[in-house]
Amino acid sequence: MADFSSLGLSDWLVKQCKQLGINKPTPVQENCMPPILEGRDCMGCAKTGSGKTAAFVLPVVQKLSEDPYGIFCLVLTPTRSLAYQIAEQFRVLGKPLGLRDCIIVGGMDMVSQALELSNQPHVVVATPGRLADHIRSSDTFSMSKIQFLILDEADRLLEQGCTDFTKDLETILATLPAKRQTLLFSATLTDTLHELKNIAMNKPFFWESKSETRTVEELDQRYILTPEKVKDAYLVHLIQTFTDEHDDWSIIIFTNTCKDCQVLTMMLREFNFPTISLHSMMKQKQRFANLAKFKASVFKILVATDVAARGLDIPTVQVVINHNTPGLPKIYIHRVGRTARAGRNGVSITLVTQYDIHLVHSIEGQIQTKLKEYPVEEKEVLKILTQVNVTRREIEIKLESTDFDEKKEINKRKQLILEGKDPDLEAKRKAELEKIRSQKKKQKHGQLKKKLIKRKQLKKKKAAQATA
Ligand SMILES: Nc1ncnc2c1ncn2[C@@H]1O[C@H](COP(=O)(O)OP(=O)(O)OP(=O)(O)O)[C@@H](O)[C@H]1O
Ligand SMILES: [Mg+2]
Repeated sequence: MADFSSLGLSDWLVKQCKQLGINKPTPVQENCMPPILEGRDCMGCAKTGSGKTAAFVLPVVQKLSEDPYGIFCLVLTPTRSLAYQIAEQFRVLGKPLGLRDCIIVGGMDMVSQALELSNQPHVVVATPGRLADHIRSSDTFSMSKIQFLILDEADRLLEQGCTDFTKDLETILATLPAKRQTLLFSATLTDTLHELKNIAMNKPFFWESKSETRTVEELDQRYILTPEKVKDAYLVHLIQTFTDEHDDWSIIIFTNTCKDCQVLTMMLREFNFPTISLHSMMKQKQRFANLAKFKASVFKILVATDVAARGLDIPTVQVVINHNTPGLPKIYIHRVGRTARAGRNGVSITLVTQYDIHLVHSIEGQIQTKLKEYPVEEKEVLKILTQVNVTRREIEIKLESTDFDEKKEINKRKQLILEGKDPDLEAKRKAELEKIRSQKKKQKHGQLKKKLIKRKQLKKKKAAQATA
């Protein structure tokens, strides 16, 4: 097996890796680093927790040491917390170089970010929205000489979903030089290969880890079939069991919505579990603080939405619980990939209702692995069922009296303003559409009623004729 020196890294960088416990290259590093160091574009698809970050950070730091200038490298990533994590890897590995990084994400002060950008950092790690805002609003920095453009979680950046990065990416790409190296990484690249090839135009080197399954072998993947109403009781029971049996285990629970995330956090706290949350309706500083407390094991349980599904590397996470079955296999792969990283073991448990069984089949089809049933003492769950459900209801009522939904509304308005739309006009438009829809519904209902009456009359008539 190759070592880092034979892959082309300088001695000082190999030493730096050793200090971090990175001794032997993982397959994605062994295969992707040489072509990157040769100057080629690269697309790397390897399982979660397999060391993709170092596979791009190390060659960039090596090349930067040979010709240091700013801005040398731009890394784009879909979430803010991931931007912090990647910047940290650059900072630690590039310490002997005096590498200067700059994090450009939403929710933080724009003026100080602009100042940092104008100081020509070597590496900029950014989420697309905020970086595009800087490009649109200022001309005090230039990225026209960058050597590397990196898209971590590239498929997410290019897919069109609730957060659509397309417009921001266009703005950013327009400021970058055509002559550059483009590196794209993710655990789920294959679905978006076509779009990716448009960005990495320089005959990219494509590497995908060869494996029959798309999740790691060290992950024990389980499910629990449960009626919707019993889900929370199962959750409380599972957490009680894990915390009773393992002092040092951290758990991530994924939920579907910010509100559910908030409700579950408050509910688990009522049961005295050290729980903290992470979702997009929290202020950035709060998100950052919560994640730091979870990483430091001050809180052992993190309830999160999919903002935490990709990329986060927290070694103490032993269990991932999917409170809802993910609608897309891709999301499942990233969520459960928060445990069993870098060769460690881990367990994932997905709570499945009768309406989600088809989702499980499609997940199993994609990952080429069958989920196994997780054995639970149902009697124990039923014992706590009423208490859990009453606690949840109480919390829901408490939350209704706070401004949680109001905040959601304010966030929505802010998003519309950022998209260049007038929130009041949009609300009017929505109300009008709703009116038209309900009128059409009424019309249809009326027509249906008329038809039914006619049918009834006809039947009566026929019946009368028959008796006559
Ligand atoms: N060569 C190596 N030897 C040992 N550990 C490594 C090596 N390379 C990276 N690691 C460690 O493995 C862990 C996972 O790495 P990383 O976060 O880069 O995974 P990833 O492939 O990007 O996963 P994801 O798809 O979830 O983003 C990190 O803690 C990292 O320090
Ligand atoms: Mg990663």
